[in-house]
Amino acid sequence: MGTDDRIPPAVPESVPADPVDRVIHYHIQTKHRFNRYSRSLGYLDWANQPDPFRRFGGSELVPLPLLKPDEDPAGPSYEAIYRRGAVPSQPVTLRTVSRFFEFALALSAWKKAGESAWALRSNPSSGNLHPTEGYAVVPRIEGLDLKPGLYHYAPKEHGLEIRAAYLPEPVAQLLAPFPPGAFLFGLTSVHWREAWKYGERAFRYCNHDVGHAIGTARVAAATLGWNMVLLDGAAQNTVALVLGTNRAEDFADVEPEHPDCLAVIWPSSPARGEGRGGSDLNYEMPLFLDPGAVKDLAGGSWQGRANRLSREHVVHWDIIDEAAEASWKTQEETRILRFPLNAAVIPSSDPLHASRTSSDAGTIIRQRRSAVAFDGKTAISAATLFRMLRRVMPCADREPGARPMPWDVWPYEPAIHLMMFVHRVEGLAPGLYFLVRDNEKIDFVRQSMNPELNWVPAPGAPDDLPFYWLLEGDAKRLSAQVSCHQDIAGDSAFSFGMLAEFEGVLRARGAWWYPRFFWEAGLLGQIMYLEAEAAGVRATGIGCFFDDPVHEIVGITGLRLQSLYHFTIGGPVEDRRLMTLPPYFHKQATGEGRGE
Ligand SMILES: Cc1cc2nc3c(=O)[nH]c(=O)nc-3n(C[C@H](O)[C@H](O)[C@H](O)COP(=O)(O)O)c2cc1C
Repeated sequence: MGTDDRIPPAVPESVPADPVDRVIHYHIQTKHRFNRYSRSLGYLDWANQPDPFRRFGGSELVPLPLLKPDEDPAGPSYEAIYRRGAVPSQPVTLRTVSRFFEFALALSAWKKAGESAWALRSNPSSGNLHPTEGYAVVPRIEGLDLKPGLYHYAPKEHGLEIRAAYLPEPVAQLLAPFPPGAFLFGLTSVHWREAWKYGERAFRYCNHDVGHAIGTARVAAATLGWNMVLLDGAAQNTVALVLGTNRAEDFADVEPEHPDCLAVIWPSSPARGEGRGGSDLNYEMPLFLDPGAVKDLAGGSWQGRANRLSREHVVHWDIIDEAAEASWKTQEETRILRFPLNAAVIPSSDPLHASRTSSDAGTIIRQRRSAVAFDGKTAISAATLFRMLRRVMPCADREPGARPMPWDVWPYEPAIHLMMFVHRVEGLAPGLYFLVRDNEKIDFVRQSMNPELNWVPAPGAPDDLPFYWLLEGDAKRLSAQVSCHQDIAGDSAFSFGMLAEFEGVLRARGAWWYPRFFWEAGLLGQIMYLEAEAAGVRATGIGCFFDDPVHEIVGITGLRLQSLYHFTIGGPVEDRRLMTLPPYFHKQATGEGRGE
């Protein structure tokens, strides 16, 4: 390890003691400014490019069947996944687990240019670096041909590597408080993968990616009629124990994994008739795990050692470890939420679920890509925009368990709102708009911004959509300029910044909420990626933007609101120089992985 004199020096500042001040310090330190980008190596150290595929050498790999799109379980319609109870719940089998991982974390294509080839995945990732690793904790489930254990998902092989084999009893004990057929899903991040390219800002990007993966997993579960909720009452030490990231012996001399989150996934019981969200909450779901049962599991029989991803790390970004440590969730919260056990159907006449695409969910999920450029022409209708915005409204007045998919996965009130640059939306004048995702927060948001902005309900917007028109004007150049001069922000139909209720939430909830802002933003972004495909356009996440120049547009001065992620949606321009290959062509060529 060494340092590089091309790296601009850190602003000399002492690190504060209070965890909230420490994450705020990280946040400020990693802002991009017009005259200085956040610190990074400044060039790409290709010789040490991290391996995008983690494997645990010495552990047994269980291949998952590679299912064709029309093979069972074939996905429901895209619209149906947003309607509780409209998708018949599938049993948990090797085939359904395979479909789940395909839609959540699998390869979705290979791209080839000359001699180089790289894989894309169902979950997008900043710089396509894929820091996120996925895990499942599986008990004995009737009909599921897997031994009880902790499994690591290997995307290139589309298989599950066994990390720990469990006796049936302790894992049954751990999952006893959850509905029948429940299993756990976990995510970790290899910070190094993003830090290799992006330096200090990488902790933000890793957490965006966690949010996207929560989104892909929630949607994947919905295609199978399964429910999912984050077990976010768990302390991070518990997440580490369950996922084995604390096992120094298995990560000796290799890039560590940061334990991010656990979720529980369970199939619904058969429907018991029609109902509306909110009327059928009948299962008390703990959002935590029993510490005794977790300890018993950690004593299982472990297999495998993690591979090394880069030969050498030219530089180590201490500030990332510092942010990870300051935001470590130390408290175990014994939170309980009520969820529907039975799948009462939300009627399709509900305007939230008005149809706009006849595609099935699998087609939309498989075709999702980031646009590398936009045509600067394609417009969408205001009605299409309003439908997209409704998908990201969590319906904060309902109990979390009764919120529409995917917001039922997120056991918190919304803390992110959208500042939108409308460029090409038929029926809306170009200009600056704002979506307040929780009606209760309108006053807070308005008071955090320039008092001279107009807060006029956007013309034609449905009454229940808190979407406002702040300023008229052409913001194409401005939005590209503040997005690190990326044309994708101005050549689209619209782009937006995700503004978090920053300091207030951190001070009220604690520093552990810092990564969660990015998770919420990533989850929202994932829904927008899919919505764009469903509307016949395309999206791209934008992690590179100039933080404070964005804030200045609407007169945000302090830390009450901070923009954490940007997004752009419009008519894509294909890069025809690239060749596209099927996701598992490398396995099909050898005949591997087919069948049960
Ligand atoms: C958190 C995040 C930030 C991103 N930031 C940018 C960006 O600033 N500019 C850009 O062109 N693409 C950006 N992307 C798009 C990624 O480059 C893209 O997801 C990745 O190359 C994988 O391609 P795919 O989305 O087509 O699967 C971002 C994606 C994510 C998830």
